[in-house]
Amino acid sequence: MPELIRFGVSLEKDLLERFDKLINEKGYNSRSEALRDLIRENLVKKEWIAGKEVAGAIILVYNHHKRELTNRLTDIQHHYQKLIISTQHIHLDHDNCLEIIAVRGRPKNAYKLLDALKAEKGVKHAALSSSSTGKEIS
Ligand code: NI
Repeated sequence: MPELIRFGVSLEKDLLERFDKLINEKGYNSRSEALRDLIRENLVKKEWIAGKEVAGAIILVYNHHKRELTNRLTDIQHHYQKLIISTQHIHLDHDNCLEIIAVRGRPKNAYKLLDALKAEKGVKHAALSSSSTGKEIS
């Protein structure tokens, strides 16, 4: 078993309360366990950015009644046509659309696309779930 090291963390009361609530919802047994996962998650993200190709999907939920939003989202996606390998559009209900945008390429570009989509007003949810293909990017 690897050596464990204890360290103290200072947090604002409010932030700690929110963290504890999150830990509870996610079913962690302790703050240490939750913190370890958060650290690992961020380290993995950093590795992605270090130059391996990623493959994943951006999940987007938006209100298509919002003026010009559908057009703007399409415009953005056309700028990233080399990164996007497939898009699925689902009409969720009267107001909302769900889009699943499959991507493959440079992690930096995947995050740039995510940020561009997220920044549009009327987008209710935008998240990227991705995995490394292990391939080096030349
Ligand atoms: Ni739709």
